[in-house]
Amino acid sequence: MICSRPCTETVFKESAFRIPGGVSSPVRAFQGLDLTPLIVERGIADKVVDVDGNSYIDYCMSWGSLILGHVHPSIKIAVQTQLEKGSSFGITTALESQMACQITLLMPSIEKIRFVSSGTEATMSALRLARGYTKRSYVIKFNGNYHGHADPFLVQAGSGVSFLLESSSLGVPEETVKYTISLPYNDVEAVKKAFCTYKDIAAVIVEPIAANMGVVPGTKEFLQTLRNETKKAGALLIFDEVITGFRVGLGGAQSHYNIIPDLTCLGKIVGGGLPLAAFGGKREIMDLLAPLGGVYQAGTLSGNPLALAAGLAALKQIQMPFFYETLERKTKALLDPFIHWIDLHKSNVCVHRIGSFFTLFFGVRKVTCQEDLKGLDPVLFKQFYHYLFHRGIYFPPAQQEACFLSSIHSDESLKRTQEVLLEFCEKYLK
Ligand SMILES: Cc1ncc(COP(=O)(O)O)c(C=O)c1O
Repeated sequence: MICSRPCTETVFKESAFRIPGGVSSPVRAFQGLDLTPLIVERGIADKVVDVDGNSYIDYCMSWGSLILGHVHPSIKIAVQTQLEKGSSFGITTALESQMACQITLLMPSIEKIRFVSSGTEATMSALRLARGYTKRSYVIKFNGNYHGHADPFLVQAGSGVSFLLESSSLGVPEETVKYTISLPYNDVEAVKKAFCTYKDIAAVIVEPIAANMGVVPGTKEFLQTLRNETKKAGALLIFDEVITGFRVGLGGAQSHYNIIPDLTCLGKIVGGGLPLAAFGGKREIMDLLAPLGGVYQAGTLSGNPLALAAGLAALKQIQMPFFYETLERKTKALLDPFIHWIDLHKSNVCVHRIGSFFTLFFGVRKVTCQEDLKGLDPVLFKQFYHYLFHRGIYFPPAQQEACFLSSIHSDESLKRTQEVLLEFCEKYLK
């Protein structure tokens, strides 16, 4: 049992004095959990160790980036080898072309690609490119999808086709979100209605499998409607595969659904745990980027060689035989007893899993869109979170997030997690 964390308390107190909320990204703050955030000292395979020396089985895995787990030997060697040669040049390296070659082979919808440092940059740049290409302004996004923190995506909207545009962040001018339409996820009729109403739509951006309101798969009908409507209207379809890219398989969600977007955004796994992201798509569209075309996009650390070396090593590993099959088998084995228990006891819990990422929704039986999350039970989630955390199991510290397995999760860790999940069920869900 993890009871005492004195060093954590001290470090967090000091951090909070100089860093807003004590964190570099808000979700790390354990908001609403009444728990001092985890302060990590190191990662080892499928675990993180905090500054007090407590060890936790990690199901956050740097928010899905670490599909090979912490400090995978091949990534360590790749990064060390590159570091000997230099960590950053601001000059083109052959690694960029090698990575471009790999990605265009694995995701044929990407004919040309540009590397950036974060998913936010990738989506923001893809939207600018779509607007430049179509010479139109409006973007359709979906409630509960997250595309990073660039202004045009920070919009909440009501249910149905809502044109009540209201930013979900201070500091975003009304004029900036004037061209953002946010619709309910998986709502085919809302999409058709928006295309009838607006003629000036540049792009639709979507998480084909949403993972930022918990894992909620897009239906095939919904994604096909997006493809059909964008094509008909001359708008671009952008798949935000920052999470799903190389998570649901080598070809991403686009291969899973067999729907080809015009532009794709990648991040997380592509950098092997270092800051790398990318956006790419049809040659004709991508060639509109500077220096060839008039859409400006740039970055000092873009295509960073350390990140590319790590990413290339990761891509090599995930192409090993049965990589995804093994990950899927492990994740299924982890969750099956829990699912069986909640089915048997008709508990008000719903589990969504796609391959190796999943969410346990407490308080609801069905989730197809953000509007279904109104019934979530934050008190039960908090109990669940504390129960796991104090037993050395680290889930992402918010209910509407995805949990991730890595190839390095051991049978022992999975068995231990399974036991704790079932203990929790017996204690709190009966
Ligand atoms: C689907 C999706 N798109 C974009 C982003 C933004 O990526 P980053 O945090 O690297 O800016 C995220 C981050 O979690 C994401 O999940």
